Amino acid sequence: MGTRLLLFLPWLLLLLLLPSHAVTAFRFTVDDFPHDFTFGAGTAAFQYEGAVAEDGRSPSIWNTFAHSARNPNEHSGDIACDGYHKYKEDVKLIKDIGLTAYRFSISWSRLIPDGRGAINPKGLQFYNDMINELVKQGIQIHAVIYHLDLPQILEDEYGGWLSPRIVVAHWTTILEPNIIAQGSYDKGIAAPGHCSFPFGRDCTVGNSSVEPYLYLHYSLLAHSSVVGLYREKYQVVQKGVVGINLYSLCIYALTDSAEDIQATERANDFLFGSILHPFLFGDYPESMKKAAGVRLPSFSSYESKLVTGAFDFVGLNHYSSIYASNNPDASNMPVRDQAADVGALFRETRDGQTVTQYPAGRMVDPQGLEQVLKYIREKYGNIGIYIQENGRGQIDDDDDDLMDVERIDYLKKYITATLKAIRDGASVKGYSVWALMDMYEIFGGYKAHFGLIRVDFRNPRRQRQPRLSAHWYSNFLKNNATIQVESGAATATSHAQI
Ligand SMILES: *[C@@H]1O[C@H](CO)[C@@H](O)[C@H](O)[C@H]1NC(C)=O
Ligand SMILES: *[C@@H]1O[C@H](CO)[C@@H](O)[C@H](O)[C@H]1NC(C)=O
Repeated sequence: MGTRLLLFLPWLLLLLLLPSHAVTAFRFTVDDFPHDFTFGAGTAAFQYEGAVAEDGRSPSIWNTFAHSARNPNEHSGDIACDGYHKYKEDVKLIKDIGLTAYRFSISWSRLIPDGRGAINPKGLQFYNDMINELVKQGIQIHAVIYHLDLPQILEDEYGGWLSPRIVVAHWTTILEPNIIAQGSYDKGIAAPGHCSFPFGRDCTVGNSSVEPYLYLHYSLLAHSSVVGLYREKYQVVQKGVVGINLYSLCIYALTDSAEDIQATERANDFLFGSILHPFLFGDYPESMKKAAGVRLPSFSSYESKLVTGAFDFVGLNHYSSIYASNNPDASNMPVRDQAADVGALFRETRDGQTVTQYPAGRMVDPQGLEQVLKYIREKYGNIGIYIQENGRGQIDDDDDDLMDVERIDYLKKYITATLKAIRDGASVKGYSVWALMDMYEIFGGYKAHFGLIRVDFRNPRRQRQPRLSAHWYSNFLKNNATIQVESGAATATSHAQI
């Protein structure tokens, strides 16, 4: 009898300790993350720096695009946040919030105005000064290189530009090549605005059927060359890591039908597999090869070897989830879609929004992030991941948007999802909010606000003002405040301790 009681007791205790399903409160502090996990926030050169014609900088394709008729908003971004002049103030804000990492990008046209050749000393000075300021404050450097010749600069300027104090730099080569292929060369809604009829509006230059695949292919090759060079020449000294960035969505099948499930797999192959499959297996996924045929370039055996394993981590920009369904009426679709370039017909069903209505009204679905991380792990192995962008945008003309409780709610849910994914076995190493401050957003100009910090774009002095979300993030990072999320369904409201 005594033995039976002893066997029974632990089970009773366990039952008593298990939370009931009605009250699924999830509580944690920053201490619950791995000790080397980084929490940051980000900016991007063109959207942040301004000073477009100052100190020898030449225009970039985004300047041209923003001044062209193709730009859907009325702003040019020439001043942006005036970060070129205000970066010191911003590094102080970064420090005050308690961020451990700052993600920024390097403007090629500021550093090498002619594209190739001579380095602009003033451009170099700017990044040098900014990096030194960050290093002085103990902030980790997470730099994004949009343009791929940077290692040449590293070669020429190593030691001058890269202070030896920067050990463990995080380099991301290219931002979102998996979605930029569509935006820039298919629909023509992002610089340089290439498209061809009937896939974009008012197309003047481009070929939507072919160019997205060329862009994707050359991005992969260029990225992989950079990785090879970095590993060969700099990694040992710098002890840094190098990776690529992907735009990420959780894609749900619209229905349980086999067709929709297959459509979802195709969509995932195009979104993730277009990059990750070559990294792991040296080639594109079968479904892409089948859908795109000869328009998808093939890897030579040299290229295949170059691409395989060419990453230390993968960065994800993750905001939302969508539904995919099969389109059975292929005869009614333009030629390019018949070949199912995106593998499925993307559409958002909730709130009646379509994908093109970025950035407003997107689905808040933190479980989608967990699902994406699980999908990648199951399909491509437990690769190191940085969540490089996550955040909530508001289209807002209202001056008084400092009390951004909805942003806090969003961040809280996605940070919770990140921790849950880590506990589930995902190798997530960092999380970065988009954005540190309001910027010139690619879609929405000065009217789309993503910032923890508000920027007054109506005033040329561009004053910064931390929002409630900045204080909340700071409280989490610096004061060990508890986040508590009570959730039943994916869309349940959550209540936070802070
Ligand atoms: C795009 O390129 C393909 C292959 O070269 C060609 O067949 C097609 O006509 C081109 N389309 C346009 C709109 O130029
Ligand atoms: C942070 O808070 C948690 C939970 O309250 C506690 O266990 C932990 O010791 C705290 N850490 C620090 C550094 O105060």
